[in-house]
Amino acid sequence: MKKLNFGIIGCGRIAYKHAEAFKNNEQADLLCVCDIIEERAVRYQDKYGAGDHFTDYRRMLEQPGLDAVSICTPSGMHAAMGIAAAEAGKHVVVEKPMALSLQDADDLIKACEEHGVKLAVCFQNRFNPPVQKLRRALEAGRFGKLTHGSAVIRWFRPQDYYDQAPWRGTWAMDGGCLMNQSIHNIDLLQWMLGPVESVCGYTATNLRKIEAEDVGVAVLKFKNGALGVIEASTTVYPENLEETLSIFGEKGTAALGGIAVNKIETWKFADLTEEIGEPEHLQQDVPNVYGYGHEALIGDFIEAVHDDRKPYIDGREGRNALEVVLSIYQSKI
Ligand SMILES: NC(=O)c1ccc[n+]([C@@H]2O[C@H](COP(=O)([O-])OP(=O)(O)OC[C@H]3O[C@@H](n4cnc5c(N)ncnc54)[C@H](O)[C@@H]3O)[C@@H](O)[C@H]2O)c1
Repeated sequence: MKKLNFGIIGCGRIAYKHAEAFKNNEQADLLCVCDIIEERAVRYQDKYGAGDHFTDYRRMLEQPGLDAVSICTPSGMHAAMGIAAAEAGKHVVVEKPMALSLQDADDLIKACEEHGVKLAVCFQNRFNPPVQKLRRALEAGRFGKLTHGSAVIRWFRPQDYYDQAPWRGTWAMDGGCLMNQSIHNIDLLQWMLGPVESVCGYTATNLRKIEAEDVGVAVLKFKNGALGVIEASTTVYPENLEETLSIFGEKGTAALGGIAVNKIETWKFADLTEEIGEPEHLQQDVPNVYGYGHEALIGDFIEAVHDDRKPYIDGREGRNALEVVLSIYQSKI
């Protein structure tokens, strides 16, 4: 099988997760990297042995042999960069959120479809073993009738975090705690209980000096009749407290917690007998809230390119959580 040659656009905080996933995958090579701040691109080139570096991503897209790109730039740039990559015939892995408007998300999906390239969105927590187990229980019907669920994200991001780059917390490039941090868990909630029928919520900017929200709450109604609650914040003193996903049904209760939905906190099913003791083996200790899912996500993406199938989290899947967050922003009761 031919190796896929990747390029990374944006060599900041999250890009190393992509670089390491390429390093650890025998089917991938990191061909080139790009950042408008050249020293960042050079640092990535040196550390991960990329062949070349660029400061203009459009020039990088002309690089011979380049098959795919990972887009790790500020969120408001994702759609335009993804569309340019698709037009250049490159497959696209895009960080979350895939765009900041549904129009941009749809344009990106359309460009990838029209140019016959794959598009994957980095909701890497879907690959966490506890999340996969929950999804299998759901698909097997073990919850019975689903009644309700919640996504609780009680995190801490100090003002310094927002001040480290001018795009953070702005409407044009980022959004607030819902669009940036909590969109992962919102994605999981809607993946388990969706599709969503209606949403209403409130947001506030209570502590941080940013344009967008640092606290957000919402209630959801799903098409299957289940109800949902979202509580999101980056103001919890003095550190990250939890990222918990809870799903309730007539015959089952599951709550995943830890700092990044990496632990099974509660696992009770009417048909539990065959798996007593098993949930503990699925707990993951993660070094930070990014977890370990990028490797699995990029492994799946490479297979999807080779097998000419949809990635596990393609553009249409990635769009769902964006729609929920935008609905909360637009919510007027
Ligand atoms: N999946 C996850 O868990 C996860 C975690 C963190 C961040 N993210 C997402 O990844 C994206 C980047 O976040 P980050 O924390 O790494 O940000 P960052 O600010 O640390 O890195 C962004 C990089 O993009 C570069 N850049 C800006 N404009 C560019 C351009 N035109 N061309 C090339 N490079 C350019 C910047 O110089 C910077 O180095 C965001 O969309 C964020 O939401 C996802």
